[in-house]
Amino acid sequence: MSIRVLDILREHHNDYISGAELSIRLGISREAIWKSINRLKRYGYKIESKKGIGYRLVANSKLLLPWEIKKGLNTKFIGKEIIHKITLDSTQDLALKIAERKPEGAVIIAEEQTKGKGRLGREWYSPQGGIWFSLILKPKIELWNITLLPLAIGLAIADPLTKLNLDVRLKWPNDLVINNKKVAGILLDVSAEETKINYIVIGVGINVNIDDDRLLELNATSIKRELGYEIDRVKLMQDILSSIEYRYEHFNECLDDYKARCITLNKRVKVKTLSEEFVGDAVNIDTDGSLIIVLDDNSIRRVFSSEVSLSNN
Ligand code: BTN
Repeated sequence: MSIRVLDILREHHNDYISGAELSIRLGISREAIWKSINRLKRYGYKIESKKGIGYRLVANSKLLLPWEIKKGLNTKFIGKEIIHKITLDSTQDLALKIAERKPEGAVIIAEEQTKGKGRLGREWYSPQGGIWFSLILKPKIELWNITLLPLAIGLAIADPLTKLNLDVRLKWPNDLVINNKKVAGILLDVSAEETKINYIVIGVGINVNIDDDRLLELNATSIKRELGYEIDRVKLMQDILSSIEYRYEHFNECLDDYKARCITLNKRVKVKTLSEEFVGDAVNIDTDGSLIIVLDDNSIRRVFSSEVSLSNN
């Protein structure tokens, strides 16, 4: 009901509409209208009420509300179901819990996470103002055919950020950086039996309208820091979802675009796996998405998902 109240307030642009008119148009009591108005205010819409005159919508909510994202979203299946929470320990944990019974394309968003998870067991700083979400995918392909998907998702996030005039690069496999500072990260969890994929949960964290000391301590950056102003997160979320859908449908064709944006290629890199550490030159990315490294003794190593950092030696 609150959404219908919102629609009518919007129809009236900046004019007041009386509680009586709202109640007649929607066929509900004045009290129900009042409750809806209060609910909308709690969602962050700025609504002015004037005694004896009525209500007026002054400003939209800045939250990533499902009905705002879905309005004008031009995807076929991604984002058709959106779960939105103000605060959550981790969207990834919730998505993993419910993935089995959710349709492909379902998205879980939180305004803030209290236990955001990064790659390799790290914490992910997730205060209000960022975009933190997990997406459920159910590709009907064998497990060994998804190796390029993590790279394609990195590109899918980079594309709309580039449209904001940001020089976003990808650090293999899928860290998004601006001037070597991390602006976004991606986490992939796969559930499979033998070679059959049950589901994949893709966690995406983007530092959007954040600009605080913690970000600096982490040597990270945000879109707000880079642009000098806050951007419309709902619009960015819509662009990201349609970009992901496009790249997901063509993920096996992403390698050339990926290489063009990758800062790891042709650099000296340091690799840390569970069992060893080595330094070498990152010379190429193979058709399966692995990073090919030539060591100083000319031996060749292929890295799939270890920690890779740019090296000075
Ligand atoms: C990385 O370490 O680069 C990956 C960061 C992924 C963070 C996102 S935020 C939404 C989702 N929920 C989580 O707990 N983590 C991912």
